[in-house]
Amino acid sequence: MPSKQVAALEPESQHYTTSNGAPVSEPYSAQRVGVFGPLLLQDFHHIDLLAHFDRERIPERVVHAKGAGAHGYFEVTEDLSDLTDNPFLKSKGKKARATARFSTVGGESGSADTARDPRGFSIKLRTEEGNWDWVFNNTPVFFVRDPAKFPHFIHTQKRDPQTHLKDADMFWDYLGQNPESIHQIMILFSDRGTPDGYHNQHGYSGHTFKWFKKDGSFVYTQVHCRAEGGFKTLNNAQAGKLAGENPDYGIQSLFEAIESGHFPTWNVFVQTMTPAQAEQFRYNVLDLTKVWPHKEFPLRPIGKLVLDENPQNYFAEIEQAAFSPSHLVPYIEPSADPVLQSRLFSYPDTHRHRLGVNYQQLPVNAPIVPVANFQRDGASTFVSQGARPNYQSSIVPLKYLGPEGTLEGGVRDFEREAKHETFVGAAIRDLSEITELDFEQPRALWSKVWNDAQREAYVQNVAAHFGNVKSHVVRDRQLSVWAAVDQGLSDRIAKAVGAASVKPLKVKSASEALKFRANVGVYASV
Ligand code: HEM
Repeated sequence: MPSKQVAALEPESQHYTTSNGAPVSEPYSAQRVGVFGPLLLQDFHHIDLLAHFDRERIPERVVHAKGAGAHGYFEVTEDLSDLTDNPFLKSKGKKARATARFSTVGGESGSADTARDPRGFSIKLRTEEGNWDWVFNNTPVFFVRDPAKFPHFIHTQKRDPQTHLKDADMFWDYLGQNPESIHQIMILFSDRGTPDGYHNQHGYSGHTFKWFKKDGSFVYTQVHCRAEGGFKTLNNAQAGKLAGENPDYGIQSLFEAIESGHFPTWNVFVQTMTPAQAEQFRYNVLDLTKVWPHKEFPLRPIGKLVLDENPQNYFAEIEQAAFSPSHLVPYIEPSADPVLQSRLFSYPDTHRHRLGVNYQQLPVNAPIVPVANFQRDGASTFVSQGARPNYQSSIVPLKYLGPEGTLEGGVRDFEREAKHETFVGAAIRDLSEITELDFEQPRALWSKVWNDAQREAYVQNVAAHFGNVKSHVVRDRQLSVWAAVDQGLSDRIAKAVGAASVKPLKVKSASEALKFRANVGVYASV
């Protein structure tokens, strides 16, 4: 497994050497002329040491820079053959070695683990059909459903171009202009926005994926990882105190839990929806700002995720880990969710920038099965693919996956692919417009799911941040978004920040929105 593969020899068994492996007698001194003379160009040890030191840092992740990680396994605990023909998921009892990385989103790599922020929840599953990455968050929904908004949104969480400070006006200015983010804002400013460490939290695919069978039929899926000990949270005051006293609280508690044998464990479930059910579903199945109600789409157990091994070397095994929602395996496919489609491009693109073109060859990222393709050479090529031709040769051909999932030399299965090429309907329009449908789930959280203490915590958590907004335009616009959720909620926040009551944002009614969708017809079967 990665840490064992990557780990160096035991330190005591080794001589100190230069990078070309030659022993060095005096590691602490540079060669010089005489006692006080200038340094010598011939001193390869010294020059090599400095030159490598100068290049130690690589770009930190543009988002999710601060994190922690560990290794473990995922075990398939149920028979899932009615859902998919993916060979791993069809093998009840089978385990895949896994690497996990958890992260905050907006802060730099030295920022506090207890910041109010969503948490990244990434898992790399090493299956015999390739690596399958789950690049999840600890919230079931997200801020955007149009990926063009993502860089703007992230910039408002980062530092102001002039002051180099984080800025409450930028943050709420964006959110008030893009009210589809309100569902995520309800969760983020509840105590769920400050989880107690990286491992005491759930993880959610958020996006809709598709699990296929050989006959081309599929179900839409959403994966949920539920922490065995429950989702533990900090309150705003505890999180703030820890941010000052121990900004690495999350890294430390994960490492210590594993060292002491208390292996973090998640029970993993899937929600499924048939294409026919998707047509009848109240919300667009491609809308990342909505959840699928558990009553309608119950959680079905699929497996167990356990982290039982700390990395030996954080940089090699966690910092260099490259997760991507496009690292998929046979019979698991993305839906047409535009945010997901955009992410399929963005992650490998950033990996090539952050880690280099051959990032998949780094030990932590390399699949456990041989890679056979026509990608050759480039900086830091470690896997040579031997003498095999670097084009599709008729003399030494590579094989493709055949119609029944068998390996057929040179035969491409166009039939299976053709079955899900239908892209029709109104998904784009439906995902761009804000309608009353966008406030229903946030309203249910506020009025039905939360108790009085949770409602009060939400108002206070929001006030602690929103109270810093200086612009009255920004303040009142965001209050109108909360008023669209619930007038009482908005008035309580207004009171907490010393503002007057604001009327709800005007939007298209739910019945009009649903009528529009019914008129344009099918959008979900893509
Ligand atoms: C990290 C882009 C939405 C989860 C990243 C990174 C980029 C990125 C560029 C840095 C990757 C690296 O350097 O290795 C985007 C874009 C999005 C988006 C363009 C929307 C258009 C999401 C959503 C989720 C998510 C919706 C979860 C459902 C994560 C996680 C990481 C990450 C967990 C950290 C991966 C790691 O631990 O290495 N994202 N992201 N992102 N993103 Fe996103």
